[in-house]
Amino acid sequence: MTLVTGRPEDGAFALYTVVRADRAAILPSSIAFTDGVAIPLALGAAACALFRQEPGEVMPGVPLAALGLPYPSILHPATSSGKTLIVYGGSSTVGSMVTQLAAAIGINVITITGAQNFALSQRCGAAQVIDHGDPAIVDKVVAVVAKYGAGFIGIIDAIATAETYPTALAILAALGGGHLACTHPPPADVPANVNASMVYSANDASIPVFRDYVTPALEARKLLCLPPPIVASKGLESIQDALKKLQAGVSAGKVVVEL
Ligand SMILES: NC(=O)c1ccc[n+]([C@@H]2O[C@H](COP(=O)([O-])OP(=O)(O)OC[C@H]3O[C@@H](n4cnc5c(N)ncnc54)[C@H](OP(=O)(O)O)[C@@H]3O)[C@@H](O)[C@H]2O)c1
Repeated sequence: MTLVTGRPEDGAFALYTVVRADRAAILPSSIAFTDGVAIPLALGAAACALFRQEPGEVMPGVPLAALGLPYPSILHPATSSGKTLIVYGGSSTVGSMVTQLAAAIGINVITITGAQNFALSQRCGAAQVIDHGDPAIVDKVVAVVAKYGAGFIGIIDAIATAETYPTALAILAALGGGHLACTHPPPADVPANVNASMVYSANDASIPVFRDYVTPALEARKLLCLPPPIVASKGLESIQDALKKLQAGVSAGKVVVEL
């Protein structure tokens, strides 16, 4: 939260961190904290991407994502919404959470992951998974979306790099446009039929999910702590090494430092 508040006491590199009560939930005792750590940041980003209603800006000229989808409910599980969403980077921590929450509101989720991570993405609720290394990725994704018929929402790009943007834009061009919500500033100069925006995890859209959904959904195994942890090491002094590990790239894993 330091990024938002500027207060050193909101920093994460501490034995005890300050967390806003409305963006926290009880972790069931059956779940280890090393697993539960996959939830909070990714949930903030996913909730921003899926549930925000009001327009806004992350920074000047960069719109905040606002797809305005309904919140998941543990009491009234969704049936099929007839809508389809593509999650680019479905095995990432953010992509896994977007997939789980979108599937929980009855959306047909098509994810793009590495070939080794199809099973993980299916556990998150993906209806179809396509390999990001497939040379025919655009045609394959477009064909799957077409199979689900009308109701295409767009792409949530959890990776948001110079590698993913051209593919995402080619998919949207073939499908007549839609949302492109990215975890980093979106590409500039997108076509008029593309609604490009950025997600930002420090966002009030996650509050109802933390308050009403997270704990019962974890207890009922309707929300899973995915991807699994890669416990790097122990102690605050290990954080820099863990960051190097993360920078080198991980596949379907959440790098964790135990304190
Ligand atoms: N804006 C925000 O508020 C916010 C919040 C959280 C994170 N982020 C950002 O969002 C990004 C994702 O964060 P994260 O923690 O979720 O990442 P992560 O879990 O570390 O991501 C690792 C995954 O990225 C996937 N990946 C890499 N290149 C890919 C490609 N070309 N196509 C599809 N998948 C690809 C890998 O998939 P495979 O192994 O299957 O190939 C791997 O499983 C980061 O850049 C992070 O800084 C932003």
